[in-house]
Amino acid sequence: MSAIYLLRKFSMKPPSRFHRSLLFSSFSMGVPPDLARNAITRTYSSTIRNFPTPFNNTQSLMSTPVSCFRQSSWVSEKSRSIVASLREFSTSVETNTSDKSFERIHVQAGLNSNPLVIERIHKDEEPVSESVSRVEINKIEKSEGESVESNRVKVREESEAEKEAWRILEDAVVRYCGSPVGTVAANDPGDKLPLNYDQVFIRDFVPSALAFLLKGDGDIVRNFLLHTLQLQSWEKTVDCYSPGQGLMPASFKVRTVVLDEHTTEEVLDPDFGESAIGRVAPVDSGLWWIILLRAYGKLTGDFSLQERIDVQTGIKLIMNLCLADGFDMFPTLLVTDGSCMIDRRMGIHGHPLEIQSLFYSALRCSREMLTGNDSSKNLVRAINNRLSALSFHIREYYWVDIRKINEIYRYKTEEYSTDATNKFNIYPEQIPPWLMDWIPEQGGYLLGNLQPAHMDFRFFTLGNFWSVVSSLSTPKQNEAILNLMEAKWDDIIGNMPLKICYPALEYEDWRIITGSDPKNTPWSYHNSGSWPTLLWQFTLACMKMGRPELAEKALALAEKRLMADRWPEYYDTRAGKFIGKQSRLYQTWTVAGFLTSKLLLANPEMASLLFWEEDYELLDICICGLSKSGRKKCSRVAAKTQILVR
Ligand code: GLC
Repeated sequence: MSAIYLLRKFSMKPPSRFHRSLLFSSFSMGVPPDLARNAITRTYSSTIRNFPTPFNNTQSLMSTPVSCFRQSSWVSEKSRSIVASLREFSTSVETNTSDKSFERIHVQAGLNSNPLVIERIHKDEEPVSESVSRVEINKIEKSEGESVESNRVKVREESEAEKEAWRILEDAVVRYCGSPVGTVAANDPGDKLPLNYDQVFIRDFVPSALAFLLKGDGDIVRNFLLHTLQLQSWEKTVDCYSPGQGLMPASFKVRTVVLDEHTTEEVLDPDFGESAIGRVAPVDSGLWWIILLRAYGKLTGDFSLQERIDVQTGIKLIMNLCLADGFDMFPTLLVTDGSCMIDRRMGIHGHPLEIQSLFYSALRCSREMLTGNDSSKNLVRAINNRLSALSFHIREYYWVDIRKINEIYRYKTEEYSTDATNKFNIYPEQIPPWLMDWIPEQGGYLLGNLQPAHMDFRFFTLGNFWSVVSSLSTPKQNEAILNLMEAKWDDIIGNMPLKICYPALEYEDWRIITGSDPKNTPWSYHNSGSWPTLLWQFTLACMKMGRPELAEKALALAEKRLMADRWPEYYDTRAGKFIGKQSRLYQTWTVAGFLTSKLLLANPEMASLLFWEEDYELLDICICGLSKSGRKKCSRVAAKTQILVR
């Protein structure tokens, strides 16, 4: 049973750091987490009844030394029988799973979940810095003896920059009890104050994971997915308040804890925002986790991971958190400022496009991965409804091009009725002067944010590219986004791909909206700095739309400078001329974004596994019932001609 659940039931304090470390050291020992949880739970229960010195039960269960190395033989003897008995147990409970109570899903998952036994994927271990990439169709052999066919990268000469990039990426790998589990955010030897850049960030690991997967290495990704899954249900509080159960951390660190003179243990220490600068909520982490889980299956052919009960529960927890009812009037996800890649105050609270596009893809991935049974039926229905409402909302209300801006320019305001044209009461004076000149004749883009009487007209690259990749926007809109990229190449790419957003907030806007943030000065960092990591998403969007030459051009530009500049995190100035003021060097997702772009371009068939085509069935789902009643017109039916752009 989940320790957290039990503790809540008994109104007890959540597990202390000591308990946490015990639970995590249990992974290193190969003790299934459920058993470890039970051990902790028992400790608490007996504390309630008898007030004995805590840890007695736990200690008796885990009296073996806790250094990873010394436990290995213990693991092999004991964990096998524990695993076997838990598997038996798990099947018997599974049949009783109900689809209603989410807490029950969690508790049952606690009982049911396959313990964290990370099956090793054996493969040829060739050095990554070789000058020719591995080629043919490899076989990934799993420990149970099954083998999974998977596509492999084509032979290709690697450039000097690629060779160096692979070396840096390998150096960035973080190990937990001997196994690779992620990559640090940056490995800058000159950095005296790494803050949290020495941690594994969930979002930063995605391009690293894809580079490894495209190269044929699935181990690190599988380990990462399983370990972060365990962190999901962990204790997380900010000033005695706990966010929802499905929340995934922004990052985690492997710490070595000294237990006594002779023994140390490694523990995973997650950050759910409780240490992060500004205490920002990592809303995007869970969404990226789901997206990566699907990518892992697609690129390795190993679908057994996503079918595991604990993994299925992880997906459900994230989805339930995202789909929970609230005060929202819109199908878009309502979040605070800094809840994604832009993790500082930048005026993107509300319904920022980046979160919406990741949300949309995570919904599509979940629908694809959830195994169909009674316990997932309602959730899948809710996912379908949300997908449909979300895509309509974004396609219809976030889209701007020259025609739409002209329409807004002539808007009437203060319309009180259900069929108002200016539904969000946007005052035309809001159209920023820069946009009037900037918007090209051809092309368009999705707004950065939409709220009552508020449109954020800035162009946000990640949200727009990911809308193309996931088919959140219509096929025509996708074309138009790439047309805009071409037309505005100098502004968004300039000397270094790619601006995180365009244009910068300046003067009073900067002062009021960023709160005078000295890191986010105009044309720097999140405030319109250029981030090479965004190359991989641009590449995927271009490939999906059959325009790889655009990505090749951007990649060539980056390749000219990145190695010489020591792989900076970001660049500053309007045209991305200078290495960013406070930019880290040897930033892992810069390196990985570059490698992933290269590999995607070289392997279009693998790239195609990572994007989504239009789902025409979704467009027909309408649950409001207005059309049937005949009393009122459903705005979606009225707008259909516009959104059904085939
Ligand atoms: C910065 C970025 C964030 C990234 C982190 C680690 O905080 O804003 O997106 O995840 O650094 O690289």
